[in-house]
Amino acid sequence: MAENPTPQPESRGRRLFGWLDERAGLLTLWRTILARPVPRTNWLYTLGSASMILGALQGITGMLLTIYYIPSPDHAYDSIQYIMTEVTFGWLIRGIHHWGATLLVIVVFLHMLRTYFLGAYKFPRELTWLTGAVLLLGVLVMGFSGYLLPWNQKAYWASSVGTAVIGAPPVIGPLLLRIVRGGGEIGAVTLARFYGLHIWWAPAALVALVFVHLYLIIRIGITAPPQRDE
Ligand code: HEM
Repeated sequence: MAENPTPQPESRGRRLFGWLDERAGLLTLWRTILARPVPRTNWLYTLGSASMILGALQGITGMLLTIYYIPSPDHAYDSIQYIMTEVTFGWLIRGIHHWGATLLVIVVFLHMLRTYFLGAYKFPRELTWLTGAVLLLGVLVMGFSGYLLPWNQKAYWASSVGTAVIGAPPVIGPLLLRIVRGGGEIGAVTLARFYGLHIWWAPAALVALVFVHLYLIIRIGITAPPQRDE
């Protein structure tokens, strides 16, 4: 029997999607960014996305911590104690942020090892590798600047040693040390500087770089795992 030729009315959802797509090009975005053909890969290829998810989690938990954290020598330590003992789920948010930082460094490092050992740094992906290397540096800067923020003994002395290393090179060392510490010793200005670096400068640079990294990955595509006879 012949099919009913009467056209079915479009559902509300479809019409809304069509309206949005016509104006914002949603389908093109979907096809370009997510529904691209990718080679058959394995779990090692998920480490880049895992880094991104961990980075996002750090961003969210960090934003939550700023609600109670106070970046001044008089209040920083107490505000962390308050988060840990008084704020509802404060211990969990801080715990995720604290351990997430270590996990992020490990996962980014493993991702770098994967791309290195599978030769993904070679032509035409040299720029992807370079942006990745700066990303790793950025993640380390985040870790270093965040370490001082609890303003406890460990934070203070680790940052004293860490910044002293920055001051070690001849000629420019003393100037670098003054810039990083904001004076001769670690104090209120250092804390303000590290806080600014930790919540604004480094994350802004990281987000921008992740976009460049992803743009290159979408443009060039990812490598396929090497075959037995390659
Ligand atoms: C915050 C840090 C980073 C994020 C969020 C990130 C994210 C990603 C993502 C999502 C991919 C595609 C999927 C995959 O291959 O896993 C990728 C690929 C790649 N990444 Fe990263 N990455 C980071 C750090 C690095 C580092 C440190 C390097 C090396 C120094 C690097 C070099 C590369 C290269 C060469 C590729 C292409 C891999 C291929 O074509 O097989 N990335 N990255």
